[in-house]
Amino acid sequence: MLAIHTKGASFAAGWVEYCNINSIPFKEVDCFSSDIMNDLDGCSALLWHWSHIDYLAHLFARQLIASVEARGVLVFPSTATCWHYDDKVGQKYLLDSIGAPAVPSHVFYDRDRALSWLQQAAFPLVWKLRGGAGSQNVRLVRNFDAAQAIVRRSFGRGWRSSRFHALREKIWHFRRQPGLNNFSNIGRGLARVIVPHEIHRQQQAERNYVYFQDFVPENDHDIRVIVIGERAIAIKRMIRDGDFRASGSGLILHAKGEIPEECLRIAFDVTEKIDSQCCAFDFVRDGSRWSIIEISYAFSLAGYVDCPGFWKADLSWHPGAVRPEHFMIEDVVSRLNAKNILPR
Ligand SMILES: Nc1ncnc2c1ncn2[C@@H]1O[C@H](COP(=O)(O)OP(=O)(O)O)[C@@H](O)[C@H]1O
Ligand SMILES: [Mg+2]
Repeated sequence: MLAIHTKGASFAAGWVEYCNINSIPFKEVDCFSSDIMNDLDGCSALLWHWSHIDYLAHLFARQLIASVEARGVLVFPSTATCWHYDDKVGQKYLLDSIGAPAVPSHVFYDRDRALSWLQQAAFPLVWKLRGGAGSQNVRLVRNFDAAQAIVRRSFGRGWRSSRFHALREKIWHFRRQPGLNNFSNIGRGLARVIVPHEIHRQQQAERNYVYFQDFVPENDHDIRVIVIGERAIAIKRMIRDGDFRASGSGLILHAKGEIPEECLRIAFDVTEKIDSQCCAFDFVRDGSRWSIIEISYAFSLAGYVDCPGFWKADLSWHPGAVRPEHFMIEDVVSRLNAKNILPR
């Protein structure tokens, strides 16, 4: 029997659909229940799409997953897959530890160390908070003075993401694609400025660390590769006008020919080294090579529905409809089969 947390985030619907199509028995569970360990009795795997915007999941997801694994239950996402999720600081250590081709990043837990490093740093730099998506917490820092102001605040009152961010994003999407839907989204964005979303209200201030990444110039796009087991899907995301950031722009190209093989090779290699079940990589072109800027086990499905196929680890191309959630659960089921723990 599989256990699936069905409430909330979006992979679960595809998992349930897969079970129904393939007559795989599953049980709906609630990972937020204090009785979750009892509820998992008789289950050989747990699937839970916990999302970075779920501030309650953040409180215990990693701890629950490690504990469920300790009793021999297979989890998607596994600890190795998600301990560094929504945590660019964790990702820096992990990518450095295996010598992955990543854009150099620098983290400081002390104001003076940060400032003395900045004295000799080359600008511009990219400053990021450790969490966040859609480019929300990513900013270009052009000179020492701007960096110094960031450091002061990082070791002072800290940062909460702007309540105007959602509105700015909605205006950008409307200008790119005017239409009734995007127009009414602006209305919702305005309402959120006046009455902030609970997610925003519950946000803790980010402080006592500062993270900078070398800026990689002259990229009008990034490449997003997602490896799920032995398969990879990929898209090319163009930057917004007058900006250096691609994530969240919604300007997506899906054609196979847009994706450099080097990105696929690196993505398969790193996924295997970090023992991840599912890993999305953002790449930028750094001189003569492709470099990773961040990784993530979760992603928004909407960007990938138009992918015309996927690659296998030998880089062979397999055209056809792509369902990332089906790939995830297919791997869980085949892992159980290999261990002879067939879901019953
Ligand atoms: N070091 C960098 N050099 C150049 N561009 C970058 C760099 N870091 C991020 N970007 C751009 O900004 C976007 C958002 O950065 P990213 O770290 O992926 O944050 P998020 O978690 O919001 O997706 C990326 O999609 C990329 O286009
Ligand atoms: Mg990104």
